[in-house]
Amino acid sequence: MFTHNRADFPKDFLFGAATSAYQIEGHAHGGAGSTIWDDFAATPGNVVRAEHGGQACDHYHRYEADLDLLQAAGFDAYRFSTSWARVMPDGRTPNPEGLDFYDRLTDAMLERGLKPCATLYHWELPSALQDKGGWRNRDIAGWLGDFAETIMGRIGDRMYSVATINEFWCVAFLSHFLGHHAPGMRDIRAATRAMHHVLLAHGTAIERMRGMGLSNLGAVFNMEWATPADDSAEAAEAAALYDDYYNHFYVSGAFNGRYPDRLVAALGAHLPDRWQDDFATISAPLDWAGINYYTRSIIAPTDGPWPRHTSVEGPLPKTQMGWEVYPDGLRDFLIRTAADYTGDLPLFVTENGMANADVITNGQVQDDARIAYFESHLNAVKQAIAAGVPVQGYMAWSLMDNYEWALGYEKRFGMVHVDFDSLERTPKASWHAFKAMLNGT
Ligand code: FCB
Repeated sequence: MFTHNRADFPKDFLFGAATSAYQIEGHAHGGAGSTIWDDFAATPGNVVRAEHGGQACDHYHRYEADLDLLQAAGFDAYRFSTSWARVMPDGRTPNPEGLDFYDRLTDAMLERGLKPCATLYHWELPSALQDKGGWRNRDIAGWLGDFAETIMGRIGDRMYSVATINEFWCVAFLSHFLGHHAPGMRDIRAATRAMHHVLLAHGTAIERMRGMGLSNLGAVFNMEWATPADDSAEAAEAAALYDDYYNHFYVSGAFNGRYPDRLVAALGAHLPDRWQDDFATISAPLDWAGINYYTRSIIAPTDGPWPRHTSVEGPLPKTQMGWEVYPDGLRDFLIRTAADYTGDLPLFVTENGMANADVITNGQVQDDARIAYFESHLNAVKQAIAAGVPVQGYMAWSLMDNYEWALGYEKRFGMVHVDFDSLERTPKASWHAFKAMLNGT
């Protein structure tokens, strides 16, 4: 059980749970088009056991029962995402079945008193757009804008909030420089272009949605605290660079209309011509910002080409992902983001949680480590609020076990256990802990 209760948080503070389309829906259904994740998973060596999102949790058919679980636990909000390839299988042409699905899903949330918090893009780019260069192609800004108009033209009237992009760093750097996520590129120029274009696409989608009269618009940034491996000046510089390209770059572009000097120096030659002219769009005003936070990295300098550093193992307890549990990073990011970038804008923790090797024993899943993780990170949120940061909500990742990208179905992040053969759902102890806290029992 948690020691927290609702009364410890500000009035109207939102508690929610998050998921994403490709990770839960079952992409094989409903006339959805092929995505870069289908292609990436079908290429040997990219994903554990070459697993893909074809069936996933079959949420496409079971969404009502899944929303019942959110309602029963007492959550206020549901952060979900809209699959571009479901709504527009070739990235450009609407699919009525896809639009109908999100329409039904929206109404089902409202029927249960859940605030719909949409994210437009959570990584499943239609393959047809990748054929045209994907995030390397500047035209993606207009393509995302068109997608935003199509899906929000259908459900935008009922959204509580809309975010453009989930995790800019993952879309750009993890997927085009490190090659760990689709489309699996390892190319400094592709990565730099993607870094800029993902922001340009974000700003374009914001402008389009404002043009439609939508409000409460934001974006979701992932942040990972960077700790120098030792006291040397070299380690400090390596950690500062990591912090710049992981954390500062995207919020600096979106809120301050500039990129960090270290990155302009290192990557400027790869940025598109006249990139500075795009900041008017990139920094289109937002109504709120979301932070996804999981862990920190310990950064040590290395020889070799840019960025000349590596992550080394840290001393703290680790999750099933091997990620250190470091709640202070969440507190410090909330404080720093408000101070340096967002000022009085509402901040939301849009993802936070841990993977655990959960097993069902006598019909129960005793995920005490996850309860402790949530407890310590909710504490970090309270500390940030006490420091004056306008944090207005917390969304746990995730409602249920799902497709954990390159790690397939092996890593379980859910508050609800999913048997990926029978598709049976079993609420874990962490779900019961939220239920007790949120219902005040
Ligand atoms: C985040 C992603 C989410 C999930 C969690 C564990 O980076 O947004 O889809 O994979 O990590």
